[in-house]
Formats: sequence, C-alpha cells, structure tokens
Amino acid sequence: MSEPAIDWEKLREAAIAASRKAYAPYSKFFVGAAAQVDDGRVVSGCNVENGSYGLTLCAECGLVSALHLSGGGRLVAVVTVAFSDDGVERPGQPCGRCRQVLYEAGGPELLVNGAGGRTPLRITELLPHAWDLNEARSTQQNNAEA
Ligand code: THU
Repeated sequence: MSEPAIDWEKLREAAIAASRKAYAPYSKFFVGAAAQVDDGRVVSGCNVENGSYGLTLCAECGLVSALHLSGGGRLVAVVTVAFSDDGVERPGQPCGRCRQVLYEAGGPELLVNGAGGRTPLRITELLPHAWDLNEARSTQQNNAEA
C-alpha cells in the first residue's frame, strides 16, 4: 500500500491549532507540532510546562503520545511551529531529546519541517547516528582493526 501524499499545509494548520492549546506560562513560547501518519492520520501535540521547569513536556513528545493513543503507526512528516507571546512566529528545530523521540516514531525516512524551516529535513540530518536499540541488539561489536 502506498502512503498518501504529504499535505504540508494541512500539517502546518494543525500545528498552529495545537500551539494555541500550549500551556506555557513560564517561557511564554507556544509550540505546536503536527504529523502525518503512514495511514494518512494527522496527530498533534503542544508543549506543557511545569512550575518545576525541568519537567516541561515538549510539543513533539505530546505528538508521539497522541500517535500511540490514536492507534499507532509510523510518522511520515512532522511540522512544528512556535509563537512568542506577542503572536510573532519564531524559528527553531526540535530539541535534541525530541529528535530522538521523533526518530523512533518515524524511522530514518521521517521528514521534519521545523519552525520557520523552508525545506523539510530528514530526521537523520537533524540527528545523525541516532540511538537505535533494535539495531544495537542485532549488531555484534567488532573490535578488530579495520
Ligand atoms: N519546546 C518544545 O515544545 N519543543 C522543542 O523541541 C523545544 C522546546 C518548548 C519547551 C518550552 O515549553 C518552550 O519550548 C521554550 O523552551
């Protein structure tokens, strides 16, 4: 079965809608993420901050939770957007932790259009040499000199 074409505009709209639900009273930085799943579904997430600042949940983490909650599958394309409290759109690619989380939910082919990004990047460009537990389990370390 071939995957549906990626509707970038629809993803951007869903990401903007998600950013409006963000709970960001501390940073006042409202982030939304939306993704197309391989079956055509769109899932989204927003950032959720906490008074214990380090516990903040990024928009991409909420998105991956929504992916599993709504039936699973593999992410094909992700769009993120970010707005400051003056309503101005701001640039920014997913943070390091989110890159790893997105990698596992989408695999190496996943396309990511970060906030303010003009061209989608492959997740492997954002996160080369990602941690892949399945690959690590199936590969034996060879310490011999090349
Ligand atoms: N944030 C995200 O939602 N995703 C990222 O990839 C980076 C940062 C959020 C966390 C925090 O609520 C706000 O942006 C400001 O750092």
